[in-house]
Amino acid sequence: MEGKLSEASRRAVPSPIQQLSHLAQSVGAVNLAEGFPDFPAPAHVKAAAAAAIASDLNQYRHVQGICDVLSETMKREHGLYVDPLTDFAICCGQSEAFAAAVFAIIDPGDEVLLFDPAYETYHTCIELARGIPVYVPLDPPSWTLNGDKFLKSFTSRTKAVILNSPHNPTGKVFSKEELLIISEACQEKDCFAITDEVYEYITYDENKHTSLASLPGMQERTIITSSLSKTYSVTGWRVGWACAAANIAAAIRNIHVKLTDSAPAPFQEAAVIALTSTSDYYKSLKKDYAVKRDFILQLLTDYGFHISFRPQGSVFVFAELPRSWQISDIDFVTNLIQNAGVAAVPGRGFFHTDSDDQSYNHRYVRFAFCKSDETLEAAAWKMRTLADNNGTMKLNGK
Ligand SMILES: Cc1ncc(COP(=O)(O)O)c(C=O)c1O
Repeated sequence: MEGKLSEASRRAVPSPIQQLSHLAQSVGAVNLAEGFPDFPAPAHVKAAAAAAIASDLNQYRHVQGICDVLSETMKREHGLYVDPLTDFAICCGQSEAFAAAVFAIIDPGDEVLLFDPAYETYHTCIELARGIPVYVPLDPPSWTLNGDKFLKSFTSRTKAVILNSPHNPTGKVFSKEELLIISEACQEKDCFAITDEVYEYITYDENKHTSLASLPGMQERTIITSSLSKTYSVTGWRVGWACAAANIAAAIRNIHVKLTDSAPAPFQEAAVIALTSTSDYYKSLKKDYAVKRDFILQLLTDYGFHISFRPQGSVFVFAELPRSWQISDIDFVTNLIQNAGVAAVPGRGFFHTDSDDQSYNHRYVRFAFCKSDETLEAAAWKMRTLADNNGTMKLNGK
């Protein structure tokens, strides 16, 4: 019956990340590949989930308290007035919120603009809705938005723009000027924006997250999506949300109910506790991640990388292989796994457009640093040992 599988399922093949993660697992490599924290979630958040299970809050459930708290946060952080009773859909992670948002607004043939490189799941969701993903390349090394290129990508069929900031895989935080370009274009072309703000609390140095919805004229046309996953180190709990004007949020909720009915009940209860964490929690999250970022940047620099773009947010370094290393991203990562026992992700899985230079899309490697100090130290030890033994020669392809 394989021949009867849908076209969409044929296109949703395992990415280079998934393929190499099998290899990484088989050799027991230190995992700097996948973007999930390997350290414990905050104790107060775990206690709330345990208490909810003990209280038998185990059935289908909508926890209104999440919307109440988020509505306060939207006002405080972004100056947005959001009705907690009508303007939210609580979903199974940002992933489901995003899928439900796409299904709520995209008709077959609608074009959706995305910035390249991009987190991989957007593409499949858009295709499942029979929309057409259209990529606008960001310009390396700082992954700058070129306004002309962006504006030229709109057609009469453009329905929505997707914005992920802070950005996976590059660690870019879109600047105010870039957000203005996007917001003006969305209004002039009468398009939706769907934002992915899962790294909203993870920014570095002077960089600050601004929601696109907070720019003048954008709230009515922006669907914000985010989740607990990254801010509270609970990617497996699957609690996220979409926030939009009441009629759009209602459409997203209707689709969400058909897809999954409700997010996990006890973890929704814990979400209320997580979302009311003190400001100290968010400060130390940033501080701890900044230390991890600096650690991995130093490690990569010592290893021979020339880091031209320091992450401004998120939990990734998107490192360009030095020109002198005559090796592709896939070969580098395969060698890194086999020779050093450290896993990272070849960058090509995030690119969807060809660059002028044919090899450009094959010359980046993503390292995730949302890892415990022990994991980062182990990776450093393995990579340094390999380098000391002249093993970089193998990795460099020389
Ligand atoms: C940019 C981005 N969006 C969304 C997700 C997934 O979020 P969730 O766990 O809430 O579905 C990830 C996970 O890595 C991500 O990097």
